[in-house]
Amino acid sequence: MVNLEVEVSGLRLRNPVMLASGVIGVTGKLLVRAAEAGAGAVVTKSVGLERRTGYGNPTIVEVAPGSYVNCMGLPNPGIDEFAEEIRIAKKGGVPVVVSVFGSSPEEFAMVAEKAEDAGGDAVELNVSCPHAEVGVLERSPRIVGQVVEAVKRKVGVPVFVKLSSNVTSIVEVGKAAEDAGADAVTAINTVRAMVIDVEACRPILSNRFGGLSGVAIKPIAVRCVYELYETLKIPVIGVGGIFSWEDAVEHILAGASAVQVATALTRGFNVFKEVVDGIRSYLERKGFRDIREVVGAAHR
Ligand code: FUM
Repeated sequence: MVNLEVEVSGLRLRNPVMLASGVIGVTGKLLVRAAEAGAGAVVTKSVGLERRTGYGNPTIVEVAPGSYVNCMGLPNPGIDEFAEEIRIAKKGGVPVVVSVFGSSPEEFAMVAEKAEDAGGDAVELNVSCPHAEVGVLERSPRIVGQVVEAVKRKVGVPVFVKLSSNVTSIVEVGKAAEDAGADAVTAINTVRAMVIDVEACRPILSNRFGGLSGVAIKPIAVRCVYELYETLKIPVIGVGGIFSWEDAVEHILAGASAVQVATALTRGFNVFKEVVDGIRSYLERKGFRDIREVVGAAHR
């Protein structure tokens, strides 16, 4: 029997396939549904201190099969109201990671503290939304370090930092997060993008800019995971373009201790079972006994 259980900075997962932060994570019930469908852990939609309605429509457009550009604009009810969704999500029986954002290090820390109080098993700091006009817009290593330090002073649960590939060096930002005390990094958030309607002669999305996710970004994500794994000591969680077990294994071979799935949910909740079963069969076929044997194997 192959062992698929992993531990990410103190967080025990029955398997390494997590639900990524995104539209499914807006309610506790949907998070429970992801857990019931087989996710090893679930991450909420990003939540801030105050309620935000987000951008007007259109906010999402499919640009190629399995690839989308979206600009939701960080809509959320605010952490005080969202606390109830976190409590409901806990009924799924898997770790609940709360994705948080803020407009300053102190605001990140306030939201993270409330997320922990509501029962969040870890927080994932969204310092990487590629288009929202709130949050920490400057993704410099210095600012990211300040955010992590502020949050670490306030919470006891593991702190993950979701990184952007829209920077000169994702490794520099990841290293700053690690030096400031982050427990893991998640790579990557969506890639800043734009789509133009040639008949209307104008950008399609209401916000003009959005974030590209899905099939198209997998090679970028795998490259980032590989680079981060080479330099960091803390675990890397891979996200970007995971639709199949092969995609997940690619991330894991690059160095991901766990992976997250988001855009593939457009094809249904069954993706968790398919990816987990596929990873298990792959490990059996290759003669491995434990998923940890293949983490970062592409480096060896
Ligand atoms: O628009 C959004 O809510 C996206 C957030 C993100 O990519 O971090």
